[in-house]
Amino acid sequence: MKVYIETYGCQMNEYDSEIVRGILREKAYALVDSAEEADIILLNTCSVRDNADRKVIARVHALRHLNGGAHKKIGLIGCMPTSHRQGLIADGKLPIDFIAGPDSYRRLPSLIEKSIESSDKAFDIRLSRSETYSGVHPFRSGGVNGWIAVMRGCNNFCTFCVVPYTRGRERSRSVDDVVTEARELAAQGCKQITVLGQNVNSYQHDGHDFAYLLDKISEIDGVQRIRFTSPHPKDFPTSLLRVVAENPKVCKHIHLPLQAGNSRVLDLMHRTYDKEDYLALVDKIKRFFPAMVLTTDIIVGFPTETEKEFEDTVDVMQRVEFDSAFIFKYSERKGTLAAKRFPDDVSAVKKTERIVRLNELQKEISLAKNRAHIGQVHAVLIESLRTKKSSSDMQGRTDGNKLVILPRGDAGIGDFVQVRITDASAHVLKGRALST
Ligand code: 5AD
Ligand code: SF4
Repeated sequence: MKVYIETYGCQMNEYDSEIVRGILREKAYALVDSAEEADIILLNTCSVRDNADRKVIARVHALRHLNGGAHKKIGLIGCMPTSHRQGLIADGKLPIDFIAGPDSYRRLPSLIEKSIESSDKAFDIRLSRSETYSGVHPFRSGGVNGWIAVMRGCNNFCTFCVVPYTRGRERSRSVDDVVTEARELAAQGCKQITVLGQNVNSYQHDGHDFAYLLDKISEIDGVQRIRFTSPHPKDFPTSLLRVVAENPKVCKHIHLPLQAGNSRVLDLMHRTYDKEDYLALVDKIKRFFPAMVLTTDIIVGFPTETEKEFEDTVDVMQRVEFDSAFIFKYSERKGTLAAKRFPDDVSAVKKTERIVRLNELQKEISLAKNRAHIGQVHAVLIESLRTKKSSSDMQGRTDGNKLVILPRGDAGIGDFVQVRITDASAHVLKGRALST
């Protein structure tokens, strides 16, 4: 049986697709690179916003109409199965054969078999308090970047967010388990490890915290860069800031989701910090490491957010000067506390106005921040020997996660190249390798 997996959403889903590949290969399924070749198509889905859902629904219909698509088995895995359990199982509108939630992947082979034997929709959407896929060997396509999920789930219940419902409660893997997987990645030639979790810095196992875990991973020979995502501002003790600032293998980049700048809105969101707390944390980070690259996530148009309150988000963006920001319109998610408590009362027009304003502001800030790198020299880890536009250029990333494009030279994928930055846009740096 040939299986094709298509992945939507966050890096955790990318990693989970590697877990699923690992599990299916053990059971002698063959992995293929296109839907056309496959007998079984898995869509690893995201439910964080309505447009993520809609993309997958459209894709399922398109796959059914694919030449021979009527005979293929199509399954949804990831976050849609747990966020839309009733709808997906009960009403037959979406032409799928089986669904499996994020904690059900060990049972995926038997679920697939069940769906082959019977035309009834097969499903397994139980969430677990303990599943961390310990002992499963993720099947990676290779390359210099590797992911490791060190914790799963979320206990925060931010009122806008579907994740606690789609992925269940927080649980962490043991330090040994994580270090073993990191060693395997290093042995496969992976230079950079991204440590993943829905609330990665609330990692906790047997009295060991996230700072300890990062230090342990950094002791592995061969691991040269460590990144992590996504942290919550509430879990940045001094010990963690010290590790990020001082451990040379831990990248000097912190993604610090702000969500909103106004304290009343933050309270309604149940973020557990206010505007002043957030700004104080940013100051503290900058005291530890002034050049820390900071990026963020922002939601505009949360229910009841006024024009004046939105100005607080603008204010925080101007004060912090994030290197980049992902900015989203609030999207009501069924079952969340916000959907139950507050009407989605900021108009679509207002949301658009606010997102346009923030994107313009962020573009100016990103451009200024990137231009400040002109003349500097950065160690760039080469990730690709071409760029989207050109095969005579190559690209890689700085320690601070900035994309750098430079003329192709002798360096190969996975090499570190010292690059002098010569030009910059809001999204990318350009440079030349220093001659060695
Ligand atoms: N509407 C809009 N954006 C959301 N996010 C999470 N839930 C929602 C929602 N209901 C955003 C947050 C989060 C990022 C991954 O997605 O900014 O940090
Ligand atoms: Fe989307 Fe969140 Fe699920 Fe990731 S965890 S796939 S962002 S809903």
